[in-house]
Amino acid sequence: MKIGILGTGGMAAALGGAWTATGHEVVIGGRSPERAERTAREIGAAGHGSLADAAAHGDAVLVAVPAAAAPPLVGRLANGLAGRTVIDCTNALVPTGDGLMLDTGGATSVARQLAAAAPDARVVKAFNLCHVSIWSLRPPTFEDVPLAVPYCADHPAAAAATETLISSIGCTPAPCGGLARAAYLEATAALAIGLWWSGGEPRAVFPTPGEVSRP
Ligand SMILES: NC(=O)c1ccc[n+]([C@@H]2O[C@H](COP(=O)([O-])OP(=O)(O)OC[C@H]3O[C@@H](n4cnc5c(N)ncnc54)[C@H](OP(=O)(O)O)[C@@H]3O)[C@@H](O)[C@H]2O)c1
Repeated sequence: MKIGILGTGGMAAALGGAWTATGHEVVIGGRSPERAERTAREIGAAGHGSLADAAAHGDAVLVAVPAAAAPPLVGRLANGLAGRTVIDCTNALVPTGDGLMLDTGGATSVARQLAAAAPDARVVKAFNLCHVSIWSLRPPTFEDVPLAVPYCADHPAAAAATETLISSIGCTPAPCGGLARAAYLEATAALAIGLWWSGGEPRAVFPTPGEVSRP
């Protein structure tokens, strides 16, 4: 698949590197040509360029910039993103005296902000729950169980593209409903990361029930 990545930092390198290693054609886009070139070289990406270049390249476009920067950026690129799968991995987390809080600018989620900024794009929420170090594992597997990657999407073709991107790096897609439910993925990240920062163990909160049948 042709993948454009908006951003040149940790998530761009981790996910872009994983997709490049599994044969996808990744183009890294940044506001700094030098950083885009450096990240593309580090991961062996097919190319690099401006943010608009990456948006134009991707059948799927990963938004890997700070959450506050994402809606205006996606809005500026809206024409080029029309009809494309736009994957939002951002977390709008703000440290407060009462722990990590979400700041989604009055919207229910960053993902909904992106959908409003680019109404003809097919926005998906995914890849926001795990730390960059997890996305750098080849593959992300724990105790022989592949990492499950929850995602929320409204458009069937965008959901299918996201499942391909999840499966191709050795993970298991976990569909969690439409984009209206992206708010839950963003809130889950705030809760889990806050727990982890305070010394807790998020995965101990969701043990697999050995003898409990599913509803
Ligand atoms: N790090 C994690 O463990 C993790 C896990 C899950 C989700 N996320 C989310 O993934 C996103 C990226 O995180 P990251 O760790 O990759 O961050 P990062 O390493 O700091 O990289 C951020 C990238 O965004 C670019 N950027 C910043 N402001 C911008 C703007 N106004 N317009 C265009 N580009 C801009 C930066 O470009 P410059 O170099 O030019 O400043 C850089 O390329 C964030 O929303 C974060 O919440 C992160």
